[in-house]
Amino acid sequence: MNYYFITGSSKGLGKALVELLLEDEGHVVFGAARSQSVQHPRYHHQQLDLADLDQVTGYRFPELPDAETVVLVNNAGIVGDVKHAGNIDNEQIITCYNTNLIAPAILCNNFIKTYGGSSAKKLIINISSGAGRHPIDGWNVYCSTKAGLDMFSRVVHEESRIDRSDLIILSLAPGIIDTGMQSEIRSADQTDFSGLEKFVAYKANGDLAAPELTAKQVLRFIREPQLAAEVLCSVRDLPDA
Ligand SMILES: NC(=O)c1ccc[n+]([C@@H]2O[C@H](COP(=O)([O-])OP(=O)(O)OC[C@H]3O[C@@H](n4cnc5c(N)ncnc54)[C@H](OP(=O)(O)O)[C@@H]3O)[C@@H](O)[C@H]2O)c1
Repeated sequence: MNYYFITGSSKGLGKALVELLLEDEGHVVFGAARSQSVQHPRYHHQQLDLADLDQVTGYRFPELPDAETVVLVNNAGIVGDVKHAGNIDNEQIITCYNTNLIAPAILCNNFIKTYGGSSAKKLIINISSGAGRHPIDGWNVYCSTKAGLDMFSRVVHEESRIDRSDLIILSLAPGIIDTGMQSEIRSADQTDFSGLEKFVAYKANGDLAAPELTAKQVLRFIREPQLAAEVLCSVRDLPDA
């Protein structure tokens, strides 16, 4: 059996990926989010607030003795307070770092601790963003959480090489997707975010990918992680993307 752990499984890209994975009878999906929107006999939902680190450290990956494959997709993420530094709500700084960076790091750690010694194929995909690789004003916290996730992934890859572990880890930028996160971005104030018009135009011009399409691209990396030339990768690297 192939087991998938997907955070942010209730909406957007995470939900589309869960629904795509469930089309295959050999797949069992464990989803985590604050709310649940998928009901399926092979879907197990964990209500989890990733901003609450006590809940995250308390989460236990199950023993899976029949696993052929175990995959963790750290997908949940929030853009946070879109404002220049000096004007950001401090509580939102904490929430955004916890959700986008600290919780995924804890989940990676516990995933490796639980399955590191298993003979199953082991894969972690951290959903990153082009914003972690290029600065965008108003997104100071979001950009830095994704840059942190990129570096965390690169270091775990290096450790895996040194430890001769067969874990594969990728930090995957998914492109721009038509989800709630994008509508939140468009609701920012122009004075807090100089790129607002560009993001409004992405939607108006039909440049945002449907989450179902991006989920298919993520699934290609799950099936063939060697499609990624290096740990930091993007759906735009796919041959026909
Ligand atoms: N959309 C884009 O254009 C874009 C571009 C680049 C990168 N990304 C990345 O892609 C990933 C998915 O984003 P999306 O666009 O699909 O966003 P979305 O539609 O807003 O969905 C976000 C998901 O994360 C979950 N989530 C948020 N806060 C959480 C918390 N505190 N605890 C647990 N779950 C939480 C939400 O579930 P609940 O609300 O039920 O908790 C939801 O399922 C994110 O990592 C994002 O940074 C997106």
